[in-house]
Amino acid sequence: MQIAPSFLSCDFSKLGEELVRMEKANADFIHLDVMDGHFVPNITFGAPVIKWARPYTTLPFDVHLMISEPHRYIKDFADAGADIITFHVECDSDINETIDLIKSFNIKPGLVIKPNTPASAVFPYLEKIDMVLVMTVEPGFGGQSFMEDMLPKVKEIKDHARSLGKEIIIEADGGINASTIAQCAEAGIDICVSGTGVFKAEDAGQAIAELKSKCR
Ligand code: DX5
Ligand code: ZN
Repeated sequence: MQIAPSFLSCDFSKLGEELVRMEKANADFIHLDVMDGHFVPNITFGAPVIKWARPYTTLPFDVHLMISEPHRYIKDFADAGADIITFHVECDSDINETIDLIKSFNIKPGLVIKPNTPASAVFPYLEKIDMVLVMTVEPGFGGQSFMEDMLPKVKEIKDHARSLGKEIIIEADGGINASTIAQCAEAGIDICVSGTGVFKAEDAGQAIAELKSKCR
C-alpha cells in the first residue's frame, strides 16, 4: 500500500516544513486537493500554491482537481509541477480532450468518481488513463467518515480494465485512517490518501508506518 498525505490538512503557515516532514515520514506521494467553490462547496488553493510548494520535496505531486472546468487550467498545473493529475468524470470539460491535454505535458492522467457515480462511468476511458480515484467521502472537506460501500467499485474497475488487457492503479480518498485502511487493502486499492490521519498525527512517520502495517 502506498500513502498519499493530503496537503489540505497541513499547517499552511509552514507549508515547506510540512512537506519536508512528510518526506521524512516516508510518504509515497503528496496529494493536493484543488477546489473551486463551484464543483464542490469549498475553496482551497490553486496552481500558484503548488508552484511554491514544489521545491520543498521530491515526492510526486498527485493533484486532485475538484473544479468544474479542469481543461482550462491543466497547463497551469503542469507548469506548477504536477506529476499526476486526476479530475472528475462529473466535470463540465470534455473528458477525452482533458486526458489528451494532460498527457501532452507528460503527466499521468486519472479520473475521479464521486460516491453517487457508478464505476462504469470510467469504463470508456480506462485504456487512456493510468489511475482511477474512488472517492470514499463526498468531495469538499477533509475529516469526514469513510464510506465502505464504495469498495466494491474497486473490483469492478480492476476487472473491467483487465478485460481490456490493462492494469489500472486505484486510489481511494476520504476518511482513511488506521481503522479503515485494512478494508481498502483487502479491496485491492493501491494508494490511499490520508489527510487528518497523517498530518494531524503527532508523529507522522509512525502514523504512516501504522497505516502500512494494517495492510499486511
Ligand atoms: C476531500 C479531499 C480529500 C481529503 C481527505 O474532498 O479530496 O483528499 O482532504 O482528508 P481526510 O483523510 O481527512 O478524509
Ligand atoms: Zn483528494
